[in-house]
Formats: sequence, structure tokens, C-alpha cells
Amino acid sequence: MTQTSSALILKGKPVADKILGELGASIQALAARAGRPPGLAVVLVGEDPASQVYVHLKGKKANELGIATFDHRLPVSTPQADLERLIARLNADPAVDGILVQLPLPAHIREEAVLRRVALGKDVDVFHPENFGLLALKQGVLKPCTPAGVIEILKHYGIEIPGKRAALIGRSKIVGLPLSLLLLHENATVTVCHSRTKDIGAATREADIVIAAMGRARFLKADMVREGAVVVDVGINRVDGNLVGDCDYEALLPKVSAITPVPGGVGPMTVAMLMVNTVRAFRLHALPEEPLQGEGR
Ligand code: GUN
Repeated sequence: MTQTSSALILKGKPVADKILGELGASIQALAARAGRPPGLAVVLVGEDPASQVYVHLKGKKANELGIATFDHRLPVSTPQADLERLIARLNADPAVDGILVQLPLPAHIREEAVLRRVALGKDVDVFHPENFGLLALKQGVLKPCTPAGVIEILKHYGIEIPGKRAALIGRSKIVGLPLSLLLLHENATVTVCHSRTKDIGAATREADIVIAAMGRARFLKADMVREGAVVVDVGINRVDGNLVGDCDYEALLPKVSAITPVPGGVGPMTVAMLMVNTVRAFRLHALPEEPLQGEGR
């Protein structure tokens, strides 16, 4: 049986391509004025297969755009002090504008101590607690990549955020928590659900926009959303060798007005926003007299 659906499929690739197209067109001229290209250091500790894929995608996209990359692949046994020394070196390196430390780090590494070492102006993931605080107060220079990517997708497809009820599932430091702040800044009324929430469905059924970001395969079912809701799926789970999101996509499709697919939804946006942040950091470092304002993102 084929189910017809009028749901808008919120594909990330066209949005990412548009953003990267604009960015790529500006990089050559910026690099000529600065006398050097933007630089992104990519640090991966260990051999987590998913992290290897993400890091590869980020490096490849950076190079396509004319961003220089500095790859640091360290063994899983790397001591904390060695990793922190590497970060200090990258902080001091004038060719490096952004430092990406791919998470998760191995269990013996104190992640927070590492992320605190990253220079504030090179923290393109916005993981440093001080940058997170500035973000919360709407005073940050950079926006966290995946949360910013979600906002960009919604805006691109003309989905209104101001005044809407948004329900998030998940309060992670990388997605749920910062995205709750960005949605608030966009004037949504935000509910954040998590593992201790008594009745997640009751909260999500009230929402105009539901965002699933807790890392549980196909968790969000059709009976958990209202008719015509907009659904954004930030989950990436591997089930029997397939990538599936946090949403039961097939079941939700006939009920929602718009939904992001997995893969091909939010994923490409994370990479695009990392490139945006790297170029922004580069401009602040290399062309400090040229203002950044008026560029929306
Ligand atoms: N691990 C999962 N998502 C991310 C991300 O956006 N940045 C980094 N550095 N690590 C991650």
C-alpha cells in the first residue's frame, strides 16, 4: 500500500549547498586580502568509526571550499596531557582559525578539561563553557553547528518560529541544550523533554515544532505529534547496518506538515555551519577591521 502524503520533506543538502555556495564564493577574495586561507584543525582521538566518517566529511568539505585543514589523528591511548599540549600548540598557531575536537573522546580523557583549553576565538563548535554562556545571553560570535543548522533549515523552508510552541526531546550539550536557547532567541515557546520527563508524548502533542535529539532509534511515534506538526530529526542511530533517526519517519509522514529525513536532513547542515564558523573565526583573526554584521547567520 502506498500512502500519499503532502508533507514537505526538509532536505538539508540544498540548504547546505546554498550556504556553502555563498561561503565558497567569498573565501578566495577574503584569503587574498588576508594573505592566507582560513585554517581548520581537526583533532580525532581513537578510531571510533562514526567519528572517522564525520571528521572525513568535515575535512573534505573544508578543502573543497579552500579552507586549509590540519589533521591530527591521535591513538586511543593518548594521555590527557599530550592532548592538552596539542590544543595549546594549535591555539598559538596563527594559521589555525578553528579547532575541532571530535567527540566523544576516549573514556580516560576528561573532556571538559580539554574543551576548556580551546582558545575562545577558535572554538568553532562553541563547546567552551564561556562561549556557551555568551550564547545563552545572545552575545556569542559563533553559533553551535547542529543547533544553528536546525534553525537554518526551518528558515530556509519558510517555517515560522516566532510565537510557535517548540518541544525538544533531549538536553545534550551538543544539541538539545544549545538548540533550546536558539529557539528561545527566535521567540519560540520552548519545552525541553528528557529521560526523566514523565509523559513526553503529552508535551510533544502540544507542540507546533517537535525536535527529536536524544539518540533513540524511531522513538517519536505518530501518536506523539499533532496533525500538521513540523518534525525535525537530529538522531543518527545504526540499526542492522542502516542509519535511522530518532523519529518513526514512515509513520509520521502522513500526519506531519513537514519532516527532515535521516540521512540527508540535519546532517549536512552540521558540516555547513562548521564551515560558516571557521570562516567567521578566520575573518575575526585575519581581517579584524572588516565588520561581520548584517549577514544574518
Ligand atoms: N560529535 C557529535 N557531534 C559533534 C559535533 O558537532 N562536533 C564535534 N566536535 N563532535 C561531535
